[in-house]
Amino acid sequence: MTSRLLLRGPAGALALAGALAAGAGAAGPAAAADAPLLAPPGASSCTGCHASRPLPDSSIPRIAGRKAGEIVDFMNNYRSGAWPSSVMGRIAKGFDEQQIAAIAAWFAAQPQ
Ligand code: HEC
Repeated sequence: MTSRLLLRGPAGALALAGALAAGAGAAGPAAAADAPLLAPPGASSCTGCHASRPLPDSSIPRIAGRKAGEIVDFMNNYRSGAWPSSVMGRIAKGFDEQQIAAIAAWFAAQPQ
């Protein structure tokens, strides 16, 4: 992948440096841009709380990079009220099965 960035001259050196810097953090913006799926409708409402990178002092669980099936299970259990929650029960009720499947697939494709 990086071979395309090996241009000659100062611009090439800068591009390579940038690629190396981006590669250093596995969860960096470059990794996110490589994710195969576009964020489906609704996913941006999740990332306000479930941030794409770990936040210090946050009790909100991270869901990026989790298995899609796991996220779907969580959402269904929150939706039905089978699992207690502070906010997720109400949030999960706002999405139907197809939306949850699309959002779960997208989160699963995000860097952990
Ligand atoms: C207002 C903040 C907020 C938003 C918005 C939000 N969540 Fe959550 N989420 C939480 C909190 C807090 C928990 C812990 C359970 C609880 O107290 O409700 C949680 C738990 C979860 C869990 C369980 C993870 C685990 O390991 O226990 C999943 C999966 C999840 N959320 C998915 C989503 C999805 C998908 C969306 C968008 C549709 C979303 N959340 C939007 C705050 C939020």
